Amino acid sequence: RTNRIHSIAVIPGDGIGKEVVPEGLRVLEAAAKRYGFELKAEEHAFASCDYYLKHGAMMPEDWKERVSGRDAIFFGAVGWPDTVPDHISLWGSLIQFRREFDQYVNLRPVRLMPGVPSPLAGRQPGDIDFYVVRENTEGEYSSIGGRMFPGTEREVVIQETVMSRVGVDRILAYAFDLARSRPKKHLTSATKSNGISITMPYWDERVEAMAANYPDVRWDKYHIDILVAHFVLNPDRFDVVVGSNLFGDILSDLGPACTGTIGIAPSGNINPEGRFPSLFEPVHGSAPDIAGQALANPVGQIWSAAMMLEHLGETEAAAGIVAAIETVLAEPSLRTRDLGGRASTSECGRAVAEALS
Ligand code: NAI
Ligand code: MG
Repeated sequence: RTNRIHSIAVIPGDGIGKEVVPEGLRVLEAAAKRYGFELKAEEHAFASCDYYLKHGAMMPEDWKERVSGRDAIFFGAVGWPDTVPDHISLWGSLIQFRREFDQYVNLRPVRLMPGVPSPLAGRQPGDIDFYVVRENTEGEYSSIGGRMFPGTEREVVIQETVMSRVGVDRILAYAFDLARSRPKKHLTSATKSNGISITMPYWDERVEAMAANYPDVRWDKYHIDILVAHFVLNPDRFDVVVGSNLFGDILSDLGPACTGTIGIAPSGNINPEGRFPSLFEPVHGSAPDIAGQALANPVGQIWSAAMMLEHLGETEAAAGIVAAIETVLAEPSLRTRDLGGRASTSECGRAVAEALS
């Protein structure tokens, strides 16, 4: 893209979201200076439990107008179960963005970083470096179904999987494009066509049809049960892994877990065509147990900032931030407590900003 003015909606949310988002912004500003783009950030107090307690709703009625003109949403975390039940806070905010803005791609990098102990023995930084691409709008998570004869011996419960050609093809096209953009050019599809005998063979069929458009991308498929085993046993095998909503959900938690702490994992909820803003957020929640103590690791938020810049076409700046994160994590005194260090949230954030500059 040639337009290098990026306007973003900033939503810190609750708990440590309010502590790590400022560190993400600090690094974004350093990146803007270093790489020569302009950032217009507007911060919103809604989509938080404080807002709910004041206004009786998680967001104002005009939230869509206030956010939809932006290029992206930079999101912290939402949830404060002591005052607002999670189903209200999450469904009243984050889920609204994902649905209303058709963020049909959920993207999570899986990358082993220096200084982060992997639960997998003998793996070094560089060994594990892939993406999980999850379909985020249909599949197994449908609202088609119901319960009959509840509470009787004849009780029946049904929930249908929905796969549309549009829905399957667009997630596959995104995943193949991503694979094509990477040096290994390798795509893996998660399936279970031996057991789920209608929708999964269809998914496989669409993968094969899509692969024909990408002769330069090598691809394979694994049944989900052996695929999860390979995540643990042979994580170096993967480059881009694509799955339906349910399989992608499982893989996108397992992948980052194989590379260490929840405090560093980032994610994107993406509308690739840019018809709506995409949302970038750390994988972790608001962590009430450590909130307000400057203990939170800001790396998940900062890495989400890098993913956002990548999405906005600032490829160099995105790579620069990831490299700065690696530099900082390699230095024990700059790590936060979850990584065995003693640095505060802002000490760690400042160090990343300095490493970038
Ligand atoms: P959580 O991710 O907030 O915390 C789980 C554990 O990981 C806690 O012990 C916490 O201290 C630790 N942790 C998380 N992030 C950390 C960081 N950056 N640095 C150091 N340690 C970190 O998950 P939990 O406790 O299940 O949920 C708390 C609240 O967050 C709930 O209201 C939940 O609904 C919400 N939540 C929101 C999400 C979102 O906004 N996308 C995602 C997950 C949970
Ligand atoms: Mg999950």
